[in-house]
Amino acid sequence: MASSWADVDRFLEGVLDVHDTVLDEVLAANRAAALPAIDVSPLQGRLLMLLARLSGARRVLEVGTLGGYSTVWLARGLPEEGRIVTLELSPRHAEVAAANVAGAGFADRVEIRVGPALDSLARLREEGGDPFDLVFLDADKPNNPRYIEAALALCRPGSVLVVDNVVRGGGVVDGADPASAGSREALQVLGGHPRLDATALQTVGSKGWDGFAVAVVR
Ligand code: SAH
Ligand code: DHB
Ligand code: MG
Repeated sequence: MASSWADVDRFLEGVLDVHDTVLDEVLAANRAAALPAIDVSPLQGRLLMLLARLSGARRVLEVGTLGGYSTVWLARGLPEEGRIVTLELSPRHAEVAAANVAGAGFADRVEIRVGPALDSLARLREEGGDPFDLVFLDADKPNNPRYIEAALALCRPGSVLVVDNVVRGGGVVDGADPASAGSREALQVLGGHPRLDATALQTVGSKGWDGFAVAVVR
């Protein structure tokens, strides 16, 4: 093969003009803070922004903030009055994310809630706010089946659900490790759910071999 997956990602990032200083500084801050390099790729981030625009989203729920790289991409896909609630277990990750979100100019549009996401999701349900238009699930993979159900309770017909890391280098076929098993179970929930129409696409690129699932609520 003439070029590797990462070479092609670099080419696509260049030709599609996916980078800018603000977003690159978020990634640099995450590496400087020694956060794991598991942010979405720039091209996946652009896809999240486009999905937010395509769905006309105003209220976004994210599960798994890390340093807020995907959060900033999602925020860029929202109108002025758009809001994001993003859930993160690690106080340290949340602290880095808060600084990054502020640096990107979205401090007043993004609320970071710290704690186990299942608890935060239950709290959101109790609070009974407006439904979310777009949900991005990207935290601990074994909980993905539960995140899907919890997120659905916070959605309306037409809401969009995106799930990251559903292929795990092909591991999803056997589900041998806990993360692959979680992704496998999540896909079974998506496929069998009476309220969801879903698909999944394999992705290759700078993040290796993985996949994104996308679903819409009936
Ligand atoms: N969406 C981010 C990457 C998220 S990485 C981006 O693309 O930029 C996954 C994150 O989920 C990590 O920060 C990890 O701390 C967090 N996480 C793991 N278990 C969690 C849980 N039970 N509740 C909430 N967040 C969790
Ligand atoms: C892992 C988590 C992610 O969200 C990701 O995009 C890649 C890897 C992980 O926990 O290994
Ligand atoms: Mg991910």
